[in-house]
Amino acid sequence: MIDVKEIRKDFPIYKNHENDQKPFIYLDNAATTLKPKSVIDACSYYYEFDGANAHRGDYDLAYKVDKEVEKCRKHIASFFNCELNNVVFTSGTSMSMNLVAFGYGIKYLKKGDEILLTEAEHASNVLPWFKVSEMTGAIIRYIPLDDDGKCTPEALRKVINKNTKVVSIAQITNVLGFKIDIKEMSKIAHEFGAILVCDAAQSAPHIKIDFKDLDCDFLCLSAHKLCGPTGIGALIGKFDLLKKMDPFMTGGGDNARFDMCGNVAYLEPPAKFEAGTMNISAIYGFDAALTYLEKIGMDNIEEHEKNLHEYAISKIKKIDNVILYNEHADSGIITLNVKGVFPQDEATYLNSKGIFVRSGEHCAKLLKDRLKTYGTIRVSLYFYNDKNDIDALVEALKNGGNFLDAFFN
Ligand code: ALA
Repeated sequence: MIDVKEIRKDFPIYKNHENDQKPFIYLDNAATTLKPKSVIDACSYYYEFDGANAHRGDYDLAYKVDKEVEKCRKHIASFFNCELNNVVFTSGTSMSMNLVAFGYGIKYLKKGDEILLTEAEHASNVLPWFKVSEMTGAIIRYIPLDDDGKCTPEALRKVINKNTKVVSIAQITNVLGFKIDIKEMSKIAHEFGAILVCDAAQSAPHIKIDFKDLDCDFLCLSAHKLCGPTGIGALIGKFDLLKKMDPFMTGGGDNARFDMCGNVAYLEPPAKFEAGTMNISAIYGFDAALTYLEKIGMDNIEEHEKNLHEYAISKIKKIDNVILYNEHADSGIITLNVKGVFPQDEATYLNSKGIFVRSGEHCAKLLKDRLKTYGTIRVSLYFYNDKNDIDALVEALKNGGNFLDAFFN
């Protein structure tokens, strides 16, 4: 059971906004999450105490940094149940997806091969595959969504065929918020000889993920959505696939030797994909974020969000002027509009009440035909939100049509 009042003491941002003129009601957690003090301290610690580069120096400080970076990798491996050599540090989900698309897709796909996506995917899981298609002649197809907007294994079975080489889907989609059965999807993809790429940006912060059990081929995630720093994330990949992939970026730290004739001997993964100086302070913070989530407990996080989501839906449903797009979502993502109000105007109005949400297309630009709207308001919950946040949102939504008030108070 999560005690939100206690939990908020861990997040300096709540205290720092205590005396603001308006409330501080942060409901944009799918965009990024707030950071606990332990994460902020861990990032500063690197600059204040350790400071050296990683994997390059032969002195005490450099050894210490090497140890800390590898400690974080080990932590990621235990958190997501995979092997150490499955974990590649990236700048976040977008880079992880691009690494798979460029390192694997462009190398192994050819004309006529098929890549399966859904209309509900975020740009980071669409645009890299468009590039693969453009560069290889592979065809992009879409797994049909059900009436709610969910992608099911049955729907995958209807479109997958012997030409399918890649199935790339989000475990929790960032606008409709449905949880997809990645384990079953992986099984189906493998029956047809395809790989399954899982965009875990919106799931890793909210549910327990077991890479080995899911048996997907790649899992892409960002630290900043799970209380960690921005600019760091991971690509978790099966080692045999990582081994046969090309690096997306090359340079210092990813090779054993190279010569003037252009011969290069790359290091084994993950080092092969980690050219250049990494975001080391963020790696310290990523490690601290995982420790923090372990302390709270992923099961507790999931349960808290489920209860809060149910509470929010039951209240929002009763507001006549609200259109709810994903009542049955199984995550903390609630997507809605206030009838007759442009979503950005509504977000501005909510902001005037101290309620922070995202509005627009949320980078999922293929969804607008299905939703039949140019944009939505997205409310996204995390474990430091409570019923008071929802009550304030509900009151504000009831007056949603008064958005012009935003400019007069
Ligand atoms: N991908 C993040 C979102 O959906 C930024 O808001």
